[in-house]
Formats: sequence, structure tokens, C-alpha cells
Amino acid sequence: MKIIKTIKEFNNYRKNLEGKIGFVPTMGYLHEGHLSLMKKAKKECDIVIVSIFVNPTQFSPNEDLEKYPRDFEGDKDRCRSVKVDAIFYPEEKEMYPEEGMTTVIVEKITKKLCGVSRPTHFQGVTTVVSKLFNIVKPNRAYFGQKDLQQSIVIKRMVKDLNIDVNIVVCPILREDDGLAMSSRNEYLNEKERTVAPIIYESLQLAKNMFDNGEKSVERLKLAILEKINSKISDDMGKIDYVEIFDTENINNVMKVNKGNAIALAVYLGKARLIDNIIL
Ligand code: PAJ
Repeated sequence: MKIIKTIKEFNNYRKNLEGKIGFVPTMGYLHEGHLSLMKKAKKECDIVIVSIFVNPTQFSPNEDLEKYPRDFEGDKDRCRSVKVDAIFYPEEKEMYPEEGMTTVIVEKITKKLCGVSRPTHFQGVTTVVSKLFNIVKPNRAYFGQKDLQQSIVIKRMVKDLNIDVNIVVCPILREDDGLAMSSRNEYLNEKERTVAPIIYESLQLAKNMFDNGEKSVERLKLAILEKINSKISDDMGKIDYVEIFDTENINNVMKVNKGNAIALAVYLGKARLIDNIIL
């Protein structure tokens, strides 16, 4: 497995590659969720490239950039275990050698859901992912449904800008108790970790209600809010949002339909956790 830290070195590596190139962009501190994307890429592609880069431009000044967990040695072992061919592991000054004058902005759908409390987050993501696509030049790129809005935004960016990459969205991997795997689960203390599964339980409750005929947005949202608030007291955390929407344009729906998604974000202790379910 190659570890490549500069763009120049990557270009030299890339020009000798043949076959289908699969790419998994990450910010490291890898868990089984990340590895599931790599395994899928390995099945579908000849070469699998992973990037590990904690991208500063997608964090706002009051967020957790400095504290974001890192473990490059462990990440290398985890990538090796699923037969990744190369890790692109640039330093910040390699990706941003000077103040950039160009930003990739996807309008409208980035203003909703997580974009309300994180107004500059998605432009950081779309800019860095564009840069990574230009460096790696993959045929397929793998993203997790865990970050549903991110995957919708990336698909739209690729479509609008005619970027020649196939975007593959992979299912959410969960801990045994249902909590969606996330590098940020690391921030939870014992008590917070014990109540965190209520987030997915509330989504499952809403899905069951929908499967049994409930089509009212208000009633489904209320059921989720009540379930979460029954376990997460005000001193532990609070709900950022719960929304039900169509998965192409993230438009809120009047009546819930099959294929719509429910997504939510919850502040719990020092963590902001997100999860979603497709109906
Ligand atoms: P990161 O949070 O490291 O996630 C990398 C990829 O792993 C994303 O596509 C994410 O959706 C996926 N992922 C995370 N947890 C998952 C889970 N439990 N199950 C399945 N997939 C999961 O997302 C980012 O990094 C960054 O925004 C990035 C795209 C790398 C741009 O900086």
C-alpha cells in the first residue's frame, strides 16, 4: 500500500494506473463505516484510493477542527486490512498552499438541514471534493448515506459541473445498539453514549408509523421529538432539526411518500450527531 503525501508524487503514481479507479474521500479516524465504502470500492474497481485529510475549510471557527480525532497509524492498518492500494495523505499546505480565490458553491440544497446551523460547511466540502477529484481522477467515488445531505450535494455538483465521476452512495453502518458509526461518537461520555441509541430508535419508530399508514409530516416529526426528548434532557443536549424531505432537491413534503427521507441532527454533550432513514 502506497502512502502519498504530495500532489506531484500522486500525479506520478496516477499516470501509470490502468483500469477502473475507485476513490473514498475521508477525514480519517476510520471505522467500519468508512471501511465498508472501501470494501465496496474494492469489489467494483481495479484500484482503490483513499484520501485522509481533515479539511479545515468545512469547519467554522467555533467548531471542532483542532479536536477532531486523528490516528494515522491505526488508519494505515485499517486501510491495509481491506487492501486499499494507496492513501493520499496531504498536509494542509499541500491542499491550500495560498489563500484560495475559488470556491465551489452548490446553491439552495446546501442552505437546508445541516446548512442552517453550518452555513459555510458545504462549500468547504464541495471545494475540497472538487480538488480531490481533480487530483485523484477517479471513475467512481464512494460516499456514505450517513451524510445524506452531503451525498445529495455532491451528486448535484457532479451533474451541474459535468464532472465525469460516478457517485456511489453506500448504506449506514451502525453499532450493535443502532447508533450510526461516526468519528464524532468519540466525544460522548459514558452517560451520553448510553442514551445516544434513542436517535436511531426514534427514526425506526417513525418508519414503523409510516409503514402502518401514517402520512402526516407533523405527527411523524412529533413522535421523533417526543421519543428523543424522553431520554435526552435539556442539560445533556438538544435537537437541532428533524426534517422530512424528497431526496433529490431536499424539498419539504406536505404528505410523506415512499422514498422520502427523515434526517435529524442532535447536539449531545460535545458532539453533534446526525442520522437519517429512507422511507
Ligand atoms: P468523513 O466524515 O470522514 O466520512 C467519509 C465518508 O464515510 C463519508 O462519505 C461518510 O458519509 C462515510 N461514513 C461515515 N460514517 C459512516 C457510516 N456509519 N456508515 C457508512 N458510511 C459512513 O464526510 C467526510 O469525511 C468529509 O466531508 C469529506 C467528504 C471527506 C470531505 O472532506
